[in-house]
Amino acid sequence: MDAKSFEDLVARVRADFDTTFTWDYDRDGGGLDRLYEKAKRAQWNVSDDLDWSIDVDPERLIRLQAEESGVPPGFPARSLADIDRSPVASWTDDKWVEFAVHSQCTSLSNFLHGEQGALLVAARLVEAVPWIDAKYYGATQVVDEARHVEAFAKYLDEKMPTTYAINDNLRTLINQVLVDSRWDVVFLGMQVVIEGLALAAFGFMMGTTRDPLLKEMLRYVMADEARHVAFGILSLQKVYEDLSSNELRERQEFAYEACDLMRRRSLNPELWPAFGVSNSEIETMLSNTRSQQKFQHLLFSKIVPNCKKLGLLDHRDGWLRERFQEMQIIQYEDWTTEAEELTAASAVDPAAYADK
Ligand SMILES: [Fe+2]
Ligand SMILES: [Fe+2]
Repeated sequence: MDAKSFEDLVARVRADFDTTFTWDYDRDGGGLDRLYEKAKRAQWNVSDDLDWSIDVDPERLIRLQAEESGVPPGFPARSLADIDRSPVASWTDDKWVEFAVHSQCTSLSNFLHGEQGALLVAARLVEAVPWIDAKYYGATQVVDEARHVEAFAKYLDEKMPTTYAINDNLRTLINQVLVDSRWDVVFLGMQVVIEGLALAAFGFMMGTTRDPLLKEMLRYVMADEARHVAFGILSLQKVYEDLSSNELRERQEFAYEACDLMRRRSLNPELWPAFGVSNSEIETMLSNTRSQQKFQHLLFSKIVPNCKKLGLLDHRDGWLRERFQEMQIIQYEDWTTEAEELTAASAVDPAAYADK
């Protein structure tokens, strides 16, 4: 029996937050109604709908992926080997394969912890949101997120060598989102920033993995996430119409700070020390390699267009547009994201729900 005590295994976040009843049970017949109907029909089961008998050999799959794509194992981090006095210059191909497997473990682990964050936030939204349609829809998201936690936990436990702790920046952002008393900021942080980032990261992993089980699992999860993002956009568009200029500016700042935190997350600080390389050593080098930068930028390809749909980019002389320009991610403002294309059959375009 594991010696860890219960207290070591939990973390508490204290929040002061209104729980809102509504006595208005009328449905508005709009986008949220349709999204709710869709969500009820699109439920799936981790145990029944995925083939867990598939044997997963992570190292073999990484080698296969490298062979088929022509991209060497450990990319984009591997480009660090070419830098002067690089601490990873002497790494063999086997070492890079091992690194790539663990890099995938850190990604999957953060998906897992992030999904738990989404589960808690979704539950909070059900309590806080003042419309019955949004409470109904939010309840389906709670079930979706529980299923996602279950799926990633099972995959890591049964198919991968290890699970890593949550990334500090991701934890900071989830905590900030959970304690904010403005429920629309909870929406903005989780449904637009964190889920938008997750969709891009899921899409990237789905496009690269050679494991049919993981591919299928991500396809299912992404179909759910596309609805969640649509839920965020639909609800926020409604709220932002009534906010003052100053309040909107606060939302711009929140979106920027959340994106900035997430940009620093993708440096993978939980991984390098396990391979004998200090984070300070790696940080300067990593942010200066082009391939790493390109990959990082791609993670924001879903968030930027959604901020635009919400009117956050250009409010107050384009304050957020300027910040995104500095971050070199403004080029995504009109992107139909890769994630939506990948899940075309089940994707939800918020516009299709919002305009009726
Ligand atoms: Fe999720
Ligand atoms: Fe979600």
